[in-house]
Amino acid sequence: MENRVKIAFVGVGNISGIYLKNLTTTFSREVEIVGVCDLIAERAETAAREYGIKNVYKDYDELLADGSVEVVLNLTRPNEHYAITKKGLLAGKHVYSEKPLATNFENGRELLALAKETGLRLGGAPDTFLGGGIQTCRRLIDSGFIGTPVGATAVLLGCGHEVWHPGPEFYYEKGGGPMLDMGPYYITALVNLLGPAVSVMGRAKASYPQRVITSQPNYGKIIDVEVPTHYCGIIDFANGATAQIVTSFDVQYARFGRYIEILGSEGTLRVPDPNDFGGEIRLLRAGETQWKEIPMALPYPDNSRGLGLADMAHAIRTGRGHRACGEQTCHVLEIMTGIERSSDENRTVFLETTFQRSKPMQYTRLVGILDD
Ligand SMILES: NC(=O)c1ccc[n+]([C@@H]2O[C@H](COP(=O)([O-])OP(=O)(O)OC[C@H]3O[C@@H](n4cnc5c(N)ncnc54)[C@H](O)[C@@H]3O)[C@@H](O)[C@H]2O)c1
Repeated sequence: MENRVKIAFVGVGNISGIYLKNLTTTFSREVEIVGVCDLIAERAETAAREYGIKNVYKDYDELLADGSVEVVLNLTRPNEHYAITKKGLLAGKHVYSEKPLATNFENGRELLALAKETGLRLGGAPDTFLGGGIQTCRRLIDSGFIGTPVGATAVLLGCGHEVWHPGPEFYYEKGGGPMLDMGPYYITALVNLLGPAVSVMGRAKASYPQRVITSQPNYGKIIDVEVPTHYCGIIDFANGATAQIVTSFDVQYARFGRYIEILGSEGTLRVPDPNDFGGEIRLLRAGETQWKEIPMALPYPDNSRGLGLADMAHAIRTGRGHRACGEQTCHVLEIMTGIERSSDENRTVFLETTFQRSKPMQYTRLVGILDD
């Protein structure tokens, strides 16, 4: 147990609950939470009390000054990610960040270069691609069950987070919008199933200049929209496949509001919603008329947020590469921001970055302990 990797949270907001739960239960053999901090001290104090965490730092500087902390878990809002991650790396800590890595590609690229220069690990959400659902799909595609991948469709259609999130303003500030917010799930899944992309095209627009919050506690508050809220993108992959992606906060729920399908020469694979770790997998192959339900063959079907961090922690100890790696999250950021750049500049954007797909997850009976 003393070999566990020591981590500290910066940001203890809405999403922190599932990380606190999973890292103190399922993944508690890989990591130890040694401290937490938040601008709203009460949030950190409550988490520390509830989960028996030793340190509540008064601020991020105090967290970074704690020599026992090996990894910073960055759970701040998107437009805070870059500065927090950079400061963590400069202080000699490994960093695992919630998505997106940064709100523009240049900042993401800088963080990746900094991690390489300093020899520190940079990891990033989402880690849903490590769940049983997408990992089973990856095995099916890699084993030829749909033949040669030709294309893919990824769709996330909805009316925006202001209907449920208690502080939804950041989704409409720079760094928000449905592409940087939800795109990471869909595009991380796509690049894990199809490999790296080479170019993108897109259209991006904001259908409404203002939004009305209907969640509590700010019911009725009007907020200005600073980012596109409806995106259509085309992604060309190095393996020759072409995907289309639509992400929107501007519409009501569609018949198929959230889905990914991978289309191959010999069949079509319905991939579970990449916002989740599991879900239904269905396969229709050439010559068949019925979709077949495919059982999930890999572990982590439930909300296992923290799995990517646990994998990075294990990798720090063994020296292997970690799966939710900086190269991947930076590549995903370049794809997402490239779609908007393509729209702004009315041209195809050729990507600078690439990445190597991580080793598939292994079947293991020791849930919560990662493979070497
Ligand atoms: N809410 C969700 O369902 C959800 C799901 C998946 C991923 N995420 C991602 O998680 C991240 C956080 O989202 P959230 O919904 O938890 O936001 P949130 O606003 O609820 O929480 C962010 C917290 O970070 C704190 N913070 C900001 N700067 C800080 C600093 N310098 N030092 C200490 N604390 C600081 C804030 O005070 C706040 O408590 C975002 O990147 C989001 O995209 C959220």
